[in-house]
Amino acid sequence: MKRTILDTDPGVDDALAILLALGSPELHVVGISAVSGNVELARCVRNALRVLRLTGRMDLPVHAGASRPLIREPFRAEIVHGRDGLGDAGVSDAGRGADSEDAVGFLVRTLRADPGAISLVATGPLTNLALAERQSPGVLKQAREVIVMGGAVREQGNATPTGEFNFVADPHAAREVLHAGANLTLVPLDVTHRCLLAEEAVRRRIAPLRTPVSDFIARTTALCRAYMKNVEGVEGFHLHDPLAVGVGIDPSFCETEVMRLDVETEGGLTAGQVVADRRVFVDERLLNGSNVRVCVGVDRKRFVEFFLERVLK
Ligand code: RIB
Ligand code: CA
Repeated sequence: MKRTILDTDPGVDDALAILLALGSPELHVVGISAVSGNVELARCVRNALRVLRLTGRMDLPVHAGASRPLIREPFRAEIVHGRDGLGDAGVSDAGRGADSEDAVGFLVRTLRADPGAISLVATGPLTNLALAERQSPGVLKQAREVIVMGGAVREQGNATPTGEFNFVADPHAAREVLHAGANLTLVPLDVTHRCLLAEEAVRRRIAPLRTPVSDFIARTTALCRAYMKNVEGVEGFHLHDPLAVGVGIDPSFCETEVMRLDVETEGGLTAGQVVADRRVFVDERLLNGSNVRVCVGVDRKRFVEFFLERVLK
């Protein structure tokens, strides 16, 4: 059992990632940290608590983190996740607030207390992780592993032509975390764009179950499914954040490759873009960026089935 912290910006797919983590015996979730991202921080905290209420896990702590990126102005994804962050589906509140310890203090304390023991899965902008590293240099190296949903390497972006939302929202944090020397696995759009939960699966396999969790999934994903259909012409939605949790449960879902990566932080058009330095004719010492394990392929059918089996059981 891997002791695991989820750093999230719920967000519909973050909520599904939390459901998958809590429904998987391989992971022992010890806490959730929330970060400003898809929606403002207070709503991310509220939504994480809503998922804990739904799953009967109000014993778990939720820690509030950064309310804005390191430098850039906040940039939201309410068009996909709704104003409340869970598809404006009227999900019941948990009736409790965040824990008193802030997310950065929680991350630093927990990682330092047990070097090499804690898995960290980050599914939002990396602001909390960057602030933890700034507060306690080397702390991310203390994690057993850091799994990050973010970036787009060979795949086109979703927030900009070249940038994925989490990295575009806070490119400075993404850059600092990639260069922190942690045991980091990147789960970029290159693989999450292949993990579509089809509209048909929601209609045929989820909605008819009429359980609290299946109703939650059907209701909270309705807005993003409509967005995907009307704007992107796609019948379903991508399991971005659940795949990051999936990699923590079973790394064999993805094929990986080590690449030298850096993140553009300044470009008006390109801030948040992941830049892979693949120059083979250049001395290794002259290459840009840091070595990062990148997921380049995914067994998507097996993962989607695994996701459904775990969250609906
Ligand atoms: O680009 C996808 C990522 O951005 C996911 O984490 C989603 O929740 C949004 O935050
Ligand atoms: Ca997210």
